[in-house]
Amino acid sequence: MIAARTFVTPARQCLRTARVAQSAVSPFSQIRGYATTDDRVAKFKGQKGSDGKYTVTLIEGDGIGPEISQSVKDIFEAAKAPIKWESVDVTPILKDGKTAIPDEAIESVKRNYVALKGPLATPVGKGHVSLNLTLRRTFNLFANLRPCRSIAGYKTPYDGVDTVLIRENTEGEYSGIEHVVVDGVVQSIKLITREASERVLRFAFQYARSINKKKVRVVHKATIMKMSDGLFLNTAREIAKEFPDIEFDAELLDNSCLKIVTDPTPYNDKVLVMPNLYGDILSDMCAGLIGGLGLTPSGNIGDECSIFEAVHGSAPDIAGKGLANPTALLLSSIMMLQHMGLNQHAGNIQKAIFDTLSEGKTLTGDLGGKAKTHEYAEAIMKRL
Ligand SMILES: NC(=O)c1ccc[n+]([C@@H]2O[C@H](COP(=O)([O-])OP(=O)(O)OC[C@H]3O[C@@H](n4cnc5c(N)ncnc54)[C@H](O)[C@@H]3O)[C@@H](O)[C@H]2O)c1
Repeated sequence: MIAARTFVTPARQCLRTARVAQSAVSPFSQIRGYATTDDRVAKFKGQKGSDGKYTVTLIEGDGIGPEISQSVKDIFEAAKAPIKWESVDVTPILKDGKTAIPDEAIESVKRNYVALKGPLATPVGKGHVSLNLTLRRTFNLFANLRPCRSIAGYKTPYDGVDTVLIRENTEGEYSGIEHVVVDGVVQSIKLITREASERVLRFAFQYARSINKKKVRVVHKATIMKMSDGLFLNTAREIAKEFPDIEFDAELLDNSCLKIVTDPTPYNDKVLVMPNLYGDILSDMCAGLIGGLGLTPSGNIGDECSIFEAVHGSAPDIAGKGLANPTALLLSSIMMLQHMGLNQHAGNIQKAIFDTLSEGKTLTGDLGGKAKTHEYAEAIMKRL
């Protein structure tokens, strides 16, 4: 059983910091000296080895994880991507009487600064903390990056979707601070700190710049949560001053939902950034616009390392049958290459995937085709 309190969450660390800071509260502008925009948040620190390759930690995961990971490995080899995989096992171990991720896996991610992760099954039952959450906490992965782009050849009710959503990943409504006030009354604390807000907001502006989106929009409910969302929004206004080339605005969460499901295309020129819970919900909503979680990649971004993963689960119902669609993990691996600055390889592989999908001849069952996982991967490799 994984103990719920094994890791000190960044949110709690921030709370402590915030308490200390309260004694010397001063206006935002006076206590903050902003880093220059050259200081990239979450910049990839890995170096090529003597063989000219970067080593990347690979967590193949459960269920369909090994099958879709094999497709990524095959396609990367065919594309001559300069990547060497270091496979690690994250099956929980007992440490000091508590369940934890094996040290070798943690060391591997720390050493390589980057990992690609297949889906991990979460045992159902009391006391089990999701390994995904544990990884996020272990490596303080503060931003969840979720791009959703329409896939030519896979028709959904929406065309031309190209949204990018960034979710604060460490605090907000998910700080895990809850208690019973009296029987029948519980209180849950939504924790927002300037420190965590600044970090994710600065990442959002930098990311917008890196992918040539000219606008950043904060999604919030500061009309109701005046202090918590108010702090997030005011921090955004301050950070925006560092990026005069990026247009900044804000929108209420309910309004964003209404407008996105009515017509998502006006959001194509923006990066949306928001506190944890809103991001959790809105990112799945955007995934729905392009055909669901099976096609959606993601990146969990941290200062020390980043972990890229498909959004879907381990699909135990089709595991081992060669039916899995590896597209989401492949698109996640492309985000990883971009994060590592390997844009040429990322572009080549991405084009081969999108061309294969839009041709529509070799599709897996979930997309209405009959191809096996390896046949779909081979069709992509032929285009490289
Ligand atoms: N990031 C993660 O590691 C992650 C995310 C979600 C769920 N999970 C875990 O995965 C397990 C199964 O969860 P679930 O069944 O709710 O969701 P799931 O995403 O595994 O499956 C939902 C449905 O989508 C299908 N599907 C999912 N991915 C597919 C793919 N790549 N190709 C073709 N079909 C695909 C499945 O066959 C299934 O019918 C649970 O233990 C859950 O905790 C892990």
